[in-house]
Amino acid sequence: MGRHERIAELAGLDRPGLEIADLASGAGRTVRALLRATATTGNEPGRVHAVDAASNLDDEVLHDARVRSVLADLDEPLPFADTSLDRVISLNAAEHLDDPTAHLAECYRVLRPGGLLVLAHSDWDTALFASADDALTRLLVDRFVSTVPQFAERADGFMGRKLLGLATRSPFELVSADTWADCHRRFDQGSVSWKVAMGVLAATKNDPELATRAVTWVEGLAELAAEGKFLFAVTDVALVLRRPE
Ligand SMILES: C[S@@+](CC[C@H](N)C(=O)[O-])C[C@H]1O[C@@H](n2cnc3c(N)ncnc32)[C@H](O)[C@@H]1O
Repeated sequence: MGRHERIAELAGLDRPGLEIADLASGAGRTVRALLRATATTGNEPGRVHAVDAASNLDDEVLHDARVRSVLADLDEPLPFADTSLDRVISLNAAEHLDDPTAHLAECYRVLRPGGLLVLAHSDWDTALFASADDALTRLLVDRFVSTVPQFAERADGFMGRKLLGLATRSPFELVSADTWADCHRRFDQGSVSWKVAMGVLAATKNDPELATRAVTWVEGLAELAAEGKFLFAVTDVALVLRRPE
């Protein structure tokens, strides 16, 4: 089971007709996992609102009648009425937001009493790459963690480990706290490990000497993968929070 399937399971879709919002939905991988999770149980959602500042939803998700694409800035109030949602998912969003505490307050406002927030984040500083050069890997992961990607205004590569602190300062009840690190052995284009490695490359673009070393490093990862010796993982943190009845 991968990250998005785990998030869908934690959302506890235990009855049909739930109103769900996936905040910072990106390509819609979590939305797809939510729909698949309910396909066999009969607990079909009423509507899944896929909210993001950019319109990057995959066609398959975008054209699903149960999905509503919402373009919105998560630094602003959420475009939902008070107590109008049953489930809210926030995966890898908080690090990009101006005020993660305000983000939780907005999630609380839009959830019905008894509703659940799945607040989850990869902790990028824990990125594990099998490589022939440990010192360079350390240097590159540090550079990646301290660099803001092009698609965002800010980033915090330590956000995963900060979620519990955020949650305890909110009015939510903590239902559960989980961590996991999925094992990725592939390095072909589009794979999770390749995407993170591309993020590492992008983080070196203002440092020509390191950028050259990073290109060689990426080639080394591809060689390891071809030999069956490649491994990538990153620790994800996932909290389930309930708005009290
Ligand atoms: C790393 S992606 C995560 C996507 C998805 N949740 C996942 O885990 O696959 C971060 C997403 O946050 C969105 N984003 C960043 N800042 C945002 C903001 N202020 N308001 C809305 N979306 C934002 C980006 O457009 C991007 O799709």
